[in-house]
Amino acid sequence: MENCNAELYDFEPRASSVLREVLAGLSQNPKTLSPKFLYDKRGSEIFEEICKLEEYYPTRAEEEILKDYASEISSLISEDALIIEPGSGSGEKIRFLIPHLKKPTGYVPVEISKSILLRMTEELHQQFPELNVHPVCMDFTKDFDIPDALKSAKHKVVFFPGSTIGNFTPEESMSLLRGFGRVLTKGDGLLIGVDLKKDAEILEHAYDDREGVTAGFNLNLLNRLNREISAEFNICNFQHQARYNKELGRVEMHLVSKLSQIVRVHETIFRFQEGETIHTENSYKYSENEFITLAGRARYKFRQLWKNRKKQFCVYYFEKD
Ligand code: AVJ
Repeated sequence: MENCNAELYDFEPRASSVLREVLAGLSQNPKTLSPKFLYDKRGSEIFEEICKLEEYYPTRAEEEILKDYASEISSLISEDALIIEPGSGSGEKIRFLIPHLKKPTGYVPVEISKSILLRMTEELHQQFPELNVHPVCMDFTKDFDIPDALKSAKHKVVFFPGSTIGNFTPEESMSLLRGFGRVLTKGDGLLIGVDLKKDAEILEHAYDDREGVTAGFNLNLLNRLNREISAEFNICNFQHQARYNKELGRVEMHLVSKLSQIVRVHETIFRFQEGETIHTENSYKYSENEFITLAGRARYKFRQLWKNRKKQFCVYYFEKD
């Protein structure tokens, strides 16, 4: 563990910046909070539970792709590549590729939750003692960058699985991909997993499961704010909601106020009407062509794609142009 701590590049957001962003989001109309706040330690654990749910197909679908096509995917990645993963979470996905990569220079997990990052670094170290892991704790949505010492690697690939890109609007996604592009040079890779469009009913069940795990995930955000920035949300007064917005091609998660209420957050008071919501997450779904076009506008050249057998999910390989 000492090793991992010594190597950590630590730009973990301070509680004060969380407070500032939360107050700004709740002052908007409609009230909005960024999905990145869902992933504190508890939230990250609940997300791992979500990934095991019958209804939540994306994780299994993507893992099927990474498993079935690991050697084909790895053959597109240059020897000596540095693999950079923004929002690496528990780092499950990269484990499918590591055994197939040709002499990777290293792996750079970039993660906002320091406890999750340190745990996964330790686990990877156990599982792949040969692999150089350079953990970076930071909010990858803000001025994405990696330390210069790492940037000088000859070949780099940004690995962005899990349809995390779906959390951003198409415009935000383009600037995020352009931001990733700043650490890449022409010919470097982008390996990205993106959920495909499908029936509203399947999507809504995926984000509102029978056991209520996703509801707990969404509501944990309020618990977190109570703990970390002395907010005073009464969790019982809010309800989880997931709905597919077909026009915009996205699943929206909301926290619905069950009654008219006021809530203090630090030194500010917010008023909620009955039925008013806090919009906590978008999960955009893309057809293949839609996504290839979007990436093209962010200056990535399409090389190849893979889908799982049920054609629920898609992994793309692009080259930086
Ligand atoms: C991790 C953002 C890809 O949008 O599917 C799962 C998060 N939210 N269930 C997704 C999530 C509710 C997930 N991403």
